[in-house]
Amino acid sequence: MDDERILIRRAGPLQGEVVIPGAKNSVLKLMAATLLADGEFTLTNVPAIADVGIMAELLEAIGVRSERVAPDQLRMVNSGNINPVAPYELVERIRASINVLGPLLGRFGRVSLSLPGGDDFGSRPIDMHLHGLEAMGATFELRHGVVEATAERLHGADITFEFPSVGATENILTAAVYAKGTTVIDNAAREPEIADLCNFLVSMGAHIEGIGSSTLTVHGVERGELHATQHAVVPDRIQAATYLAAVAVSGGEVVLRGARADHMDMLLRRFHDMGLTITSIGAGAESSLAVWSHGQLRSIDVATLPYPGIATDYKPLIVTMLTVADGVGIVTENLYPGRFRYVEELQRLGADIRADGHHAVVRGVRQLSGAPVRAPDIRAGAALVVAGLAADGETSVAGVHHVDRGYDDLVGRLAALGADIERVPAP
Ligand code: UD1
Repeated sequence: MDDERILIRRAGPLQGEVVIPGAKNSVLKLMAATLLADGEFTLTNVPAIADVGIMAELLEAIGVRSERVAPDQLRMVNSGNINPVAPYELVERIRASINVLGPLLGRFGRVSLSLPGGDDFGSRPIDMHLHGLEAMGATFELRHGVVEATAERLHGADITFEFPSVGATENILTAAVYAKGTTVIDNAAREPEIADLCNFLVSMGAHIEGIGSSTLTVHGVERGELHATQHAVVPDRIQAATYLAAVAVSGGEVVLRGARADHMDMLLRRFHDMGLTITSIGAGAESSLAVWSHGQLRSIDVATLPYPGIATDYKPLIVTMLTVADGVGIVTENLYPGRFRYVEELQRLGADIRADGHHAVVRGVRQLSGAPVRAPDIRAGAALVVAGLAADGETSVAGVHHVDRGYDDLVGRLAALGADIERVPAP
């Protein structure tokens, strides 16, 4: 599986333009939501990432066919012949497989789902998903690692999350669209990818109020009333942040076409504090970001929080930037206990980081030095590539299949900006 490496050598400043693909954390959920209606869906701005292929396989097993009709376009056909069983071999490969639960339960009243896998960090329970659906009338039984869910027809409910879980918000939303009556989700997650899912559901005929806020109100429609639709996936703010981080450590001037400042507000402010000059060009779907860096960064303290706070997915990039910044930065992780594993890899490159529990203290060094490292997950893998841009000599990143799960041609895009980077077969 893990035969390839990404080789990076330090190069000069990055220059040019990079197109930001659609968001992994949106497209996978939109794909799952096609279970809600028969017909032909078209998704555009679909990233070419491995997880889209895995989600397509999972949906194919359940009964929805997908076909890439253009490099960034996916046609999905739901013929109505659905078998609401999500098999272990596919579910274990991708966390977002849990997103078939809401649509299948809402529309068909029964689901058999193996417990999901995905990135191997910390424990990722689904109790909030299950409690919310229970409040709507579902019953669950766990047998031999398989969740068997049933509900004659779900009914509306008032659901207050103790924590704004992204996945739980999505599953309640996609179940509620066919529930009898009104569902109110309080303390809902507010990530731009949730608003994207809401807009997708509305374009299918769902009634949702409060989109983009922490209170979502869903007025259920009759089963079968929703219809297929076309939709452009929201741009990937995490991939956008990756190119910002690349310019930050290399210096240079780059335009990120499609990146949306309004989805990255807090991060852009903190990057400004670190010394980056970032300007927003245009608005909405036509927007871009221009970033300029002279390659010298200042340290900051950062804590991850649910949106609109700094996303946990940005953290490996921020830690990497801090490794070469002036001063000391403290990074606090509030969402996942196990998300500092890549620190050892950065230390191999000469970074001065002390991680303890939820905190990492990062003391900037003048220069990282290239070494072989291994990507432990998607975002950490990309961060190691960025670290390689700032390291003397050659950095070789193994575990490339993790990066491929969430990045659409990271190597090609960075090379086009002038980075000295290539993919090579195993030595
Ligand atoms: C999604 C993203 C992931 C991102 C995360 C937080 C996808 C495929 N993944 O994951 O990249 O890092 O949002 O922005 O979109 N929790 C519970 N019980 C639950 C649900 C969650 O305890 O029922 C906990 C989790 O263990 C975790 C925290 O809540 O500690 C955040 O989880 P959640 O917001 O649900 O993230 P995901 O949807 O899994």
